[in-house]
Amino acid sequence: MPETTPTPVIEVKDLVKKFDGKTVVNGVSIHVNEGEIVGFLGPNGSGKTTTIRLMCGLLTPDSGSGQCLGYDITTQSEKIRQQIGYMTQKFSFYEDMTVVENLDFVGELYGLANRARRVNDMMAQFGLTPRRQQVVGTLSGGWKQRLALAASVIHTPKLLLLDEPTAGVDPNARREFWDRIHDLASKGLTVLVSTHYIDEAERCHRVIYVSDGQVVTRGTADEIIDQANLSTWVVRGDNLETLAHALEKRPEVRQVARFGRSLHVLGTDAARLDALAEDLRDDPDHDWQRADTTLEDVLIDLGARNDRAAAP
Ligand SMILES: Nc1ncnc2c1ncn2[C@@H]1O[C@H](COP(=O)(O)OP(=O)(O)OP(=O)(O)O)[C@@H](O)[C@H]1O
Ligand SMILES: [Mg+2]
Repeated sequence: MPETTPTPVIEVKDLVKKFDGKTVVNGVSIHVNEGEIVGFLGPNGSGKTTTIRLMCGLLTPDSGSGQCLGYDITTQSEKIRQQIGYMTQKFSFYEDMTVVENLDFVGELYGLANRARRVNDMMAQFGLTPRRQQVVGTLSGGWKQRLALAASVIHTPKLLLLDEPTAGVDPNARREFWDRIHDLASKGLTVLVSTHYIDEAERCHRVIYVSDGQVVTRGTADEIIDQANLSTWVVRGDNLETLAHALEKRPEVRQVARFGRSLHVLGTDAARLDALAEDLRDDPDHDWQRADTTLEDVLIDLGARNDRAAAP
């Protein structure tokens, strides 16, 4: 049986975008297959939103090219826009209109033929029916986000672009949101989602991490962990902050990630880090355990390196 080749939904190459002479997207290539949920991570200002806007034709690249849903991102943006759902970093609803009025308005923008039914279906699917007559300005963040998701899929798009969709939303609402995303993806919807939350990165099939407009690492969580090639020791005990400061000065240690009651001590040279740990674990105040490196460890390390690179 020949394996079916996955259909690329996004296929962009070497995208470059400058604003006022400053390069904010610097040669980004991205490939996303149908039905995938891809997480897009990176520090503030690393070019995620700009890249998303380039990929759906809302911005024109200075160079680079590609396709989104089979359409050229520079010449067929109108076609792309009709078939994508795009949830931006800011909710943009009419705050003084009700839930149902807002959804109906979005349906009208898309020129939906069966608008009333589709609006009702969306409200049922996203649990908004009890709130249909509520004025949007009085909804909590979690409900607004639900409404935003419903609005972004009302025209049954094939691709959903979510730009920090859960910023400021409580953990319960976020988990529910992600259940919905997985549900939509299982029905064939492709999702690219930018986020600063590590637990959300873990919910994606693949992650792309950008820094300073360039892709630094990409892959499944396991692939990213492998590529990072970090060894990890977990230290528990008292006075962890003092220990953290001391460890940060050691050449064997590349990164000290602080958790509530433990430190994750990361190094690239496993043998040297092990030797250090063996040396220090005699101290009865601290318990040292070798641990598997997690995606969170790698992402903390990437973020910290970005901060150091940006430091004057
Ligand atoms: N229209 C614009 N004009 C000028 N500069 C811009 C414009 N849009 C974005 N920038 C700049 O480009 C850089 C990248 O911004 P972008 O919004 O793509 O980053 P981001 O990764 O989405 O950040 P965040 O995580 O904070 O949302 C930033 O320095 C930003 O100030
Ligand atoms: Mg952004």
